[in-house]
Amino acid sequence: MPLPEKNNRVIVTSALPYANGDLHIGHLLEHLQTDIWVRLLRANNITCHYVCASDAHGTPIMLKARELETEPEKMVEEFRSSHIRDLRSFNISHDNFYTTHSDENKYFSELIYIRAKESGFIENKQIDQLYDEKAGLFLSDRYVKGTCPKCSAENQYGDNCEVCGAKYEAAELINPVSTISGEKPKVKTSEHVFFKLSKLESNVANWMRATPLQDAVKNKLEEWFQQGLKDWDISRDSPYFGFEIPDMPDKYFYVWLDAPIGYIASLENYLRSNDKESAEEIWSENVNTEIYHFIGKDIMNFHALFWPALLETSNFKKPSNVFVHGFLSLNGAKMSKSRGNFLSMKDFIEILDADYIRYYLASKLSPSIDDIDLNYDDFQKKVNSDLVGKFVNIASRSAGFLKKNDNQIGNNIDNVFYEKFISSKKEITNLFADLEYSKAIKEIMKLADSANTYVDEKKPWILAKDEKNKEEVIKIASTTVNLFRVINAYLKIVIPDTCSKGESFLNEIISSIDDIDDPLTDHKLNSFSPILHRLDDEKLEALIQRGSNG
Ligand code: 2FM
Ligand code: ZN
Repeated sequence: MPLPEKNNRVIVTSALPYANGDLHIGHLLEHLQTDIWVRLLRANNITCHYVCASDAHGTPIMLKARELETEPEKMVEEFRSSHIRDLRSFNISHDNFYTTHSDENKYFSELIYIRAKESGFIENKQIDQLYDEKAGLFLSDRYVKGTCPKCSAENQYGDNCEVCGAKYEAAELINPVSTISGEKPKVKTSEHVFFKLSKLESNVANWMRATPLQDAVKNKLEEWFQQGLKDWDISRDSPYFGFEIPDMPDKYFYVWLDAPIGYIASLENYLRSNDKESAEEIWSENVNTEIYHFIGKDIMNFHALFWPALLETSNFKKPSNVFVHGFLSLNGAKMSKSRGNFLSMKDFIEILDADYIRYYLASKLSPSIDDIDLNYDDFQKKVNSDLVGKFVNIASRSAGFLKKNDNQIGNNIDNVFYEKFISSKKEITNLFADLEYSKAIKEIMKLADSANTYVDEKKPWILAKDEKNKEEVIKIASTTVNLFRVINAYLKIVIPDTCSKGESFLNEIISSIDDIDDPLTDHKLNSFSPILHRLDDEKLEALIQRGSNG
């Protein structure tokens, strides 16, 4: 897949985290996958807007605020601040991290709804739903449990049975119970607003065929097409934390209607505060804009069915691609706070620097939607062997020889070897562009291996014993530092803090990947100081402890 066009506007998003809990390393996986891609674009001189926000609406947010005895607006802002803090501490380079509970999002949600309505894609229908009289709430499927109407398994949620796989309506459950109050809910009729997705089937199918989605994503979409697309209920009854539907008092937009619209709203807020064009202009159908969403596999239907359909009916541009990743497990098991297998981003960063996990997760990421495991032992081995043993070692083992030369890189280096390193640039860039991060990192580590082999074979420590080899030793060390510089530039999108320390040593800042096309010669370095420490057993143990505290 080629990189986006330099002359196009490019918008990149990560899914919006819910503002009712701490971010964990599963969230990091997604923001990191996006961040590396965004940094790749920037290193290739492609301007892009990377926007995100807190997903602020919905029943779980409303209930969490009640539980904390606070107002949802206040809670959402507090979580938003903590999410911004956590994401920054891992160097996730959003241009804007806004909130869906904003004036901009209200404006765009109403606009998209009204346009869909004017073009005939909105229909109101009466529906029967379970209602919890004690809590005063209509219950969505996740708040109802009961006995499966097909196989009689007890304790099943309101949408499908985990034992026999049957799908049903919550009202069909035998002996349903509200998980909120523990009371038996009643069936109550209410008017709901539907988005007529069924009428947009061929439209979404055309978008899917024209979009280079991952095969697994296409297969999943095909399955949904085979079942036939159903109209989508985009309203919720009061009480609800969200935006009221303009022409329907006491009815609210379902959180999943305004959440993706939050991407546009966050962009609008960013552009406006920077005096640039409006989001409405650059997201409109006929502008040369490329839009890329990074999401987890659990929310594919929202991004690859409902979202393109909504954009279609409201004359906004549909995604250029939707990149989907799998879940992150921790030491082979699903992350779960209650089962003591959970690592928040904050817990991690209190113990270790971001680059350790940025590197590890990147080395496991690929375009597959299979799950990824963070295994503590593998984590320690990989960062120690690759980053400390291979990468940083290249700099540390050559710095000493140049120190004796007043920290000066000579004017004579092994150009053939240098060219070999530079010629990998295209392949490595393409691998990153294709989300083949794991393969890209393997290629980079092969370069690190060959730089180390070069030093091993040249044996400058032996040559240095004889003053007559001075020139040769400087040439070897100058070449090696230049090889380090190339790898440092390739890894900068993955481990920015470490590579900026590498740049301090090199006494140079690389802003574009093309800056390394020519080697550094006759150049003064800064004195070498350690760039990255080994991940020792004590730190790893502290991390494992944190991860098992839940
Ligand atoms: O699944 C989630 O965590 C949602 N909060 C993601 C929303 S992404 C977008 F559509 F807003
Ligand atoms: Zn069943």
